[in-house]
Amino acid sequence: MTPENSRKGLLERLEGRFRAEFGGAAPRCFFAPGRINLLGAHLDYSGGDVLPMAIDRGIYAAARARSDGRLRLVSLDQELVVEVHEDDVGLHTRPEWGWAGYPLGVWQGLRHRYGIRGGFELVVGGDMAMASGLSSSAAIEVATAVALDAVYGLGLSRQDIAVISHAAETGFVGVRCGIMDQFASALAQPGKVLLLHCAGPSYEHVPFDGEACDVLVLDTKKPRELAKSGFNQRVAECASAREILCTHVRDLPHLALFTPEDLLRAEAVLSDVLFRRARHVVTEMVRVKTGVAALREHDYRKLGQQLTASHLSGATDYEVTCDELDEIAEAAISHESVFGVRFTGAGFGGCAIALHRPGAAPEVEKVVTERFEARFGVTPGFDLLRIGMGPGEVER
Ligand code: GLA
Repeated sequence: MTPENSRKGLLERLEGRFRAEFGGAAPRCFFAPGRINLLGAHLDYSGGDVLPMAIDRGIYAAARARSDGRLRLVSLDQELVVEVHEDDVGLHTRPEWGWAGYPLGVWQGLRHRYGIRGGFELVVGGDMAMASGLSSSAAIEVATAVALDAVYGLGLSRQDIAVISHAAETGFVGVRCGIMDQFASALAQPGKVLLLHCAGPSYEHVPFDGEACDVLVLDTKKPRELAKSGFNQRVAECASAREILCTHVRDLPHLALFTPEDLLRAEAVLSDVLFRRARHVVTEMVRVKTGVAALREHDYRKLGQQLTASHLSGATDYEVTCDELDEIAEAAISHESVFGVRFTGAGFGGCAIALHRPGAAPEVEKVVTERFEARFGVTPGFDLLRIGMGPGEVER
């Protein structure tokens, strides 16, 4: 099935469900992309530079404003249907709202900032694996924000949309994530990756040549059990490492702004764990810089080397990989067509991404499948991605 066909089928299902649930005229439909992160692993919450790429998969949302204060949320992929009055939505989500906490958080943020009232109805559906490191939650938030912006005629900028979406996740849902995922989805431009300086934040777009290099997702099928607890622990460890560096070396607002030399000066006062966490952060900053230079030089092998080095640092110093991710990365890199490979998203399971010579996917998949099956008895999933477009209304 081509992406176009799957998109068409998905939109038909979305509209069909919308009409069945809510009746009336055809809804307006919107899209927001998921993302992979080429480089800058776990740097966003340490004020570092990250290099995400929006993908041609994401979340579609059919939406319509209401006037009776009801919020009605339906997903094609989840059984839970949520209906709540706007006056009953407070500052935080509730367990019984499940997945709907993300769009409700966006609604709450827009109501707070722009005073929107009246409610809305929404059906969402996606063409990407949920909860595997491709950031479906940011895509749901951004798709909802783009939809509500349009149906309420708010005229928000893409950066406003990113900020509202990020606040929904951190403030309303309560996940302590950095800004990368929502910015990657909201600010995406076709044919370009986003170089986001999280300390600003400020950003620029860097061309990515989809003809020079294929992007393959390798799904370990391993659930990301530690994703939440491990993630929050890393956030806390980075904050501790920064405090120690500020006391003993110099005062800087973000851990990622320290240099590898600063870190060496603090080696004696940092515990082994904090030293390694900080070493990942400061060396990953260098890898982002080298990777961006490689992109600008059109050197995709050199870019790939930075990805593989990032995976190794994530495995040893930052400890956010697992046996399945390490095995799948080693298997992929053993193939000569592969430029580089690393885990994507927070790690702890889920997916890795490989950059490889165009057209080599079938051979790479074969090598990886044989090795992975032999060790884990599980067949990994694969998905060849294309660089995505930005969020917006979808024409049908
Ligand atoms: C998750 C978070 C992001 C980022 C990545 C790691 O995806 O949501 O903010 O921290 O992990 O790079």
